[in-house]
Amino acid sequence: MKNFSASSLLTLSCALLAASTAQAQSSDTIKVGLMLPYTGTFAQLGVAIENGFKLFVQEQGGALAGKKIEFFKVDDESEPSKGIENANKLVQRDKVDVLIGTVHSGVAMGMAKVARDTKTLLIIPNAGADAITGALCAPNIFRTSFTNWQPAYAMGLVAAERKHKSAVTITWKYAAGEESVKGFKEGFEAKGGKVTKELSVPFPTVEFQALLAEIAAAKPDAVYTFFAGAGAVKFVKDYAAAGLKDKIPLYGAGFLTDGTLDAQGDAASGLLTTLHYADGLDTPKDRSFRLSYAKTYKLQPDVYAVQGYDAAQMLAAGLKAAGGDFSKREALIKGMELAKIDSPRGAFTLSKAHNPVQDIYLRKVENKENKMVSVAAKGLADPARGCRM
Ligand code: BEZ
Repeated sequence: MKNFSASSLLTLSCALLAASTAQAQSSDTIKVGLMLPYTGTFAQLGVAIENGFKLFVQEQGGALAGKKIEFFKVDDESEPSKGIENANKLVQRDKVDVLIGTVHSGVAMGMAKVARDTKTLLIIPNAGADAITGALCAPNIFRTSFTNWQPAYAMGLVAAERKHKSAVTITWKYAAGEESVKGFKEGFEAKGGKVTKELSVPFPTVEFQALLAEIAAAKPDAVYTFFAGAGAVKFVKDYAAAGLKDKIPLYGAGFLTDGTLDAQGDAASGLLTTLHYADGLDTPKDRSFRLSYAKTYKLQPDVYAVQGYDAAQMLAAGLKAAGGDFSKREALIKGMELAKIDSPRGAFTLSKAHNPVQDIYLRKVENKENKMVSVAAKGLADPARGCRM
């Protein structure tokens, strides 16, 4: 047998101790990478998602399936060109077990690429990019929010039911806006309506005056729009200030008025939007969630907070199915696929493509709330075009 010197034995035992400490840490802790916008037009949305996620973890006593949760954070600035680099900071540098993010569809496309290439588990708590649970669907990618198609298609049906024959659309020129318009058009035109003009401004521009003048001149029966966050606040105010609100009905995917009503004031009053969450659902789960959120953050929750809360619920379902062992990948993924999430929006399950199958509500802005009017589309599943899973 080889002779070891005292110093080489010490070095060896230190290395073994370090390795076993690392293993103990990895087995009793789950590393969660939050990649969200904390600056820019979607900053408030990112904060609401983080709040929602952390609220669920807090309600479980700070652990999921017996595992402590350690958070790592990156501000993605809603900047698609940095999407891959930012996701890699969490995956390669911080070695997270799971990525949670993001808000912006273009940034989420970069995250999805990193998740696919590295096989890292990804749960998307907002970004609606259709392709992520469509042609680019993958076993390790899940979403707790929506596809851009879902609320938009439902609004197309509503606008046609309201006997509008022509509509002009206006949005940001990037994946979410374009897909939202496409979804609206599909629903509206299937029921006999016609989209006569599609207008857009670059993301995150809020210079709407020229396009509002075009809408006034075109005189359509209705206008459909996708804007969110600070951009939605400005658009709704500008639409009213241009004198269009009482002349041409404005409809939108519900992001137009979610989390924005205090800032929009009277300009938003009476607007109709479609979304998978609403005020006045009046279910025990929604009541307890709202109470708990308001107590913890001194704020009212919005759809983004719900989606973050549900991302934590989904991770918990997977971990529970895997007995808390993150290395049991198959069980973890099966647990998430089969989960019935008791969401404040109403319970939902996932489609084969890992996107929520959910009710889309028609809401009306009244007294600074998005009051539920009716269910515009019951148990609506995204068509998941091109997904082979
Ligand atoms: C998106 O980019 O997918 C998105 C952003 C804000 C609200 C809804 C969707």
